[in-house]
Amino acid sequence: MFQGELHLTTEKNNKEQMKRILVTGGLGFIGSHTVVELQNSGFEVVIIDDLSNTTIDVLENITAISGIKPAFHQIDLRVKNDIHAFFENNTVDGIIHFAAFKAVGESVAKPLDYYENNIGSLVYLLQEMKDRNIDNFIFSSSCTVYGQADELPITENAPTKPAESPYGNTKQIGEEIIKESCKAYNMNAIALRYFNPIGAHKSIKIGELPLGVPQNLIPFITQTAMGIRKELSVFGDDYPTIDGTAVRDYIHVVDLAKAHIAALERLINKNNKTNFEFFNVGTGTGSSVLEVIKAFEKASGKSLNYKIVGRREGDITAAYADTTIANKELNWKTEKDLDEALDSAWKWQLKQ
Ligand code: WQD
Repeated sequence: MFQGELHLTTEKNNKEQMKRILVTGGLGFIGSHTVVELQNSGFEVVIIDDLSNTTIDVLENITAISGIKPAFHQIDLRVKNDIHAFFENNTVDGIIHFAAFKAVGESVAKPLDYYENNIGSLVYLLQEMKDRNIDNFIFSSSCTVYGQADELPITENAPTKPAESPYGNTKQIGEEIIKESCKAYNMNAIALRYFNPIGAHKSIKIGELPLGVPQNLIPFITQTAMGIRKELSVFGDDYPTIDGTAVRDYIHVVDLAKAHIAALERLINKNNKTNFEFFNVGTGTGSSVLEVIKAFEKASGKSLNYKIVGRREGDITAAYADTTIANKELNWKTEKDLDEALDSAWKWQLKQ
């Protein structure tokens, strides 16, 4: 065999082995970072997104980072016929399902929109998987399923608490639907319970794009530092925590993205112990709102205009992950700290 022929054969083998992964919501904040990490790990990616909470530019920016343009289909996952048509024309080896509405406050005002979108799309995807024998499903879940946990850090053995919002409920119900489907149809899935994802890719080509006034702490901080918002309201300083402000586990979005690759590989390599598993994806470190503000001021060199106000309704005192099980079972751990995450969030804000 000539050298050239050998090269061609190897390329063909690589192509044959390359797994094709559907990423729904792949142009969103966590989705876009996960697409890049999938490409870095040798997966072929096809994205479905309805562009309801992002823009098509993100596709170009993913391509600029990885050098590979993923296939893209603008599909609203509430439309069953469109999902069906997609699967008639595409084969995939696994699905990472991000597409969902995610604003807690809005979900209280529009619960039916949240159930229709977050639950409907999930059911339609699982039906297609069952009908076509597609396996390997990764679901975006949330630490909100624990509510205010009785013990910190929060392990996977902590009980789930009744959801505080329709949004949180869609994550709890979503996990139940997946668990029952895995059992009935012999499929395999992993739910990743995210703590608080923040930051941006080091290229500063992709990041978080909040629509309107940000509800989450980090985009509100960076917009305040930019002068887009007058001042940050710190919601409550009378919590039983280190300085009275609420404590959360802020995880760099790239570390979070990598947890999806680890979970997907666990399923593809059949290393999972049960049909349906769930893992906490956080850093293991809790930070108070005031600690985040201080770290941000250090990372950006700017002093932040803030004032203490009353507690925000529905907020819990403290949540941070025990990552022991995720570290061991997924063979994954975080590589970036809060300072690096805030530095990237600030650089991303400066670029907007
Ligand atoms: C963080 C802390 C606020 C804004 C989010 C999602 C939730 C789940 C986890 C996905 C809290 C305080 C905030 C502000 C403030 N994710 N804060 N001033 O509440 O932990 O929840 O992540 O499922 O669904 O909503 O995140 O960023 O809103 O707040 O003082 O202007 O910052 O009170 O203590 P939260 P957050």
